[in-house]
Amino acid sequence: MTEDELNGRLRIAVVIGSVRRTRLADPLAAWLKRELTAIDWIDLDMIDLASVSLPMHEMQPGGAAASPIAGWLADADGFVFLTPEYNHSFPASVKNVIDWHFTEWAYKPVAFVGYGGSGGVRAIEQLRTVFPELRATTVRESVLLPMAWEHLDADGSFVPPPGTVRALHATMNELRTWARALRSLRVSDLAARA
Ligand SMILES: Cc1cc2nc3c(=O)[nH]c(=O)nc-3n(C[C@H](O)[C@H](O)[C@H](O)COP(=O)(O)O)c2cc1C
Repeated sequence: MTEDELNGRLRIAVVIGSVRRTRLADPLAAWLKRELTAIDWIDLDMIDLASVSLPMHEMQPGGAAASPIAGWLADADGFVFLTPEYNHSFPASVKNVIDWHFTEWAYKPVAFVGYGGSGGVRAIEQLRTVFPELRATTVRESVLLPMAWEHLDADGSFVPPPGTVRALHATMNELRTWARALRSLRVSDLAARA
């Protein structure tokens, strides 16, 4: 891998975790998409779990089942999970997409944008205990959106409170550092096995 390839653009997949019909995830995902599209090193995929069929009864250990999003996840250099907090944890839909896949997460970084009364911090911290089993690493920085429902304008668009965009950029910069390092690791590991 050349220096240019190492320092070039990265494919980042945002996973929208809530699948509720009326959900705060919609304005938050729209805001996140706007912000991330403006970052010059990112090629963005938005994966909306509400539009993806991953039946629990078809799940296989090791991610063997045919998943409609396996290709997108496999192509990603890093992930951003947009997750609400439900009952002091992350939603079942988020655990389901994690469990449905295996190699797609391996040796890649995961960042979090959380929301809820306390910014989804308990959901995020619990997700940090899950990803090492998939050989994924979680990045230190995160974006917490406490009481985000109070930051919607008359059109229902999310208007981030002060500091939010700065936190997002800090999180994405950390994700980039890990994504570059781990992409290099994945390439050299594959070359060593070839
Ligand atoms: C089943 C359920 C449990 C919830 N539990 C919590 C909770 O423990 N802590 C919290 O901060 N918010 C909790 N909430 C509030 C959600 O964070 C809030 O409704 C958020 O908007 C949900 O995201 P969504 O609309 O995108 O699904 C809960 C919401 C639901 C639906």
